Amino acid sequence: TPLTALDVMRDAPVIPVIVLHDVRDAVPLARALVAGGIRMLEVTLRTREALECIEAIAKEVPEAVAGAGTIRSAADAQASALAGARFGVSPGYTRSVGKACHDLGLPLLPGVATGSEIMLAQEDGYTELKFFPAVQAGGINMLRAWGGPFNDVKFCPTGGVHAGNAEEFLALPNVACVGGSWIVPTEAIAAKDWARIEVLAREASQLRR
Ligand code: 3PG
Repeated sequence: TPLTALDVMRDAPVIPVIVLHDVRDAVPLARALVAGGIRMLEVTLRTREALECIEAIAKEVPEAVAGAGTIRSAADAQASALAGARFGVSPGYTRSVGKACHDLGLPLLPGVATGSEIMLAQEDGYTELKFFPAVQAGGINMLRAWGGPFNDVKFCPTGGVHAGNAEEFLALPNVACVGGSWIVPTEAIAAKDWARIEVLAREASQLRR
């Protein structure tokens, strides 16, 4: 059966938001995350190496599910699918991104921060959404408020989420998982400290929800 956005959200409590500058780091990083219990990996399209990194993980780490983050255009969605991404995450929502992912069969977690954006994404059939930037845009209280009118939506709050507040988010009925960069720190990647990342992934995979 094809992967759905709900599958992506339910696999682990945390989706790591990954920034890679060197394709040689992609495979060892993905292996460390998988070893720590995290398989759904969001590789952001913020660096010129990102697509190559997605391709490397897709080819060489079959236990991982490489996805593309920071999808901002239909072209980003197409390039991601071509590189082997199996899901997409966007920081906001546009109809053209929604349509491109739909046409490609690429499960998408569209980013939203307002009721109107939720309604637009829902009109296009998207009911699993990324709340971004979560802490900055209202955090826990915002999610509680949305639980009224948008009680058929599941969120992945991302932005300002870390080990210290993740369980508060995960305890909410409309939160399926959280996203964050804290399990893939820039310094640990630069130092190729895969053991550290495996520990952070294991801690994240054991968060209560
Ligand atoms: C994202 O793109 O989702 C955010 O940069 C992740 O936010 P964080 O770095 O605060 O976890």
